[in-house]
Amino acid sequence: MKGYPLREVVVNLPGVHAGSILHKAEVSISGHPVTDNDIRRALVKAQEEAFEHMPEDGAFELIHTIPVSYKIDGHDGIAEPRGMVGHTLGVDIHMTSGDMLALRNIASCIEKSHLDISAFCTSSYAAGLASLVDDEMELGCTVIDIGGGVTSFSVFHNRNLLYADAVPIGGKHVTGDIAKGLTAAINDAERIKVLYGSAMAGGLDETEMIDVPRLGEDAFAPPNHVPRSLLVGIIQPRLEEIFELVRSRLQDAGLGSAVGRRVVLTGGASLMPGMKDLANYVMDKQVRIGKPIRLTGLPDAVSGPAFATTAGLLSYIAERSDEMPADIIAQVTPGTLWERVKYWMRENW
Ligand SMILES: Nc1ncnc2c1ncn2[C@@H]1O[C@H](COP(=O)(O)OP(=O)(O)O)[C@@H](O)[C@H]1O
Ligand SMILES: [Mg+2]
Repeated sequence: MKGYPLREVVVNLPGVHAGSILHKAEVSISGHPVTDNDIRRALVKAQEEAFEHMPEDGAFELIHTIPVSYKIDGHDGIAEPRGMVGHTLGVDIHMTSGDMLALRNIASCIEKSHLDISAFCTSSYAAGLASLVDDEMELGCTVIDIGGGVTSFSVFHNRNLLYADAVPIGGKHVTGDIAKGLTAAINDAERIKVLYGSAMAGGLDETEMIDVPRLGEDAFAPPNHVPRSLLVGIIQPRLEEIFELVRSRLQDAGLGSAVGRRVVLTGGASLMPGMKDLANYVMDKQVRIGKPIRLTGLPDAVSGPAFATTAGLLSYIAERSDEMPADIIAQVTPGTLWERVKYWMRENW
């Protein structure tokens, strides 16, 4: 970009390389009103404890540390503790971790472009930050971001990220199924998918035919004619599989019905006609297609569902830098004498 050299980037991390860690931490506040720093002390404590329990074969880095709810002297469900007094402050914390090896691979790609990484952010979290309205974030909503190779999903509640996960299936798998099913080249399968694809067979005209170029033949060879319903019959089961996997992962995480009945779909693959109805049918939730509505003034070409994640990365860095693990450590002032000794040792050794 002329005049504005790009030096630093925020990178989205697909949920397949990320995991959710739920943790509780308590710090002493000895009767003084709770401050931002007390909350940071609890977050730092949780971060340290997460690393103490790191599995030997699964090294990770923390991506987000998000306070979800607070407790003062055992009274729980406090949404805003700042200014309240008590003896101990308890914080329920959601940390998102990133697989260390995956992060290193991504970092080495980015270094080759001579860029510095300012932060990582989970893909579906960014998609939600860009596309959810305030009430969806507050009352509970699941964001499903269906990209090329991965479907990342996350659950928002009380304006926070509660859970993030992913399944390694996306639009590319649909294209691959079409290429195999219709014996077509991958490029042709992708074009046919975008031009004639649909997520649900209902209401299709059974006599409608589409042209499929023959694999390996030159461009002048007459194409195969196949019914469009055959194409949709290939697409629908793969997309159903994605939504069924998401539904069962959410149920396994205990989030089946607890966090509202709202689903927002983002990502390039959500542009497929009928996607909303299929998601509604499989997941039994109210579904809408999300766009990056929180970033205003975007040109038409980048204001569709495929750009939600990118727009969300900007919201993340602008509004939620207090959830970045490194910033939390950099800004905390130690409270108790023991905390001070520990910090001093960490700084000096
Ligand atoms: N109009 C469309 N209809 C159906 N699928 C689409 C459409 N546009 C893009 N896709 C699919 O979306 C996927 C890419 O989504 P995107 O969110 O851009 O990917 P990623 O986030 O993985 O980089 C591809 O598999 C592509 O085939
Ligand atoms: Mg995407």
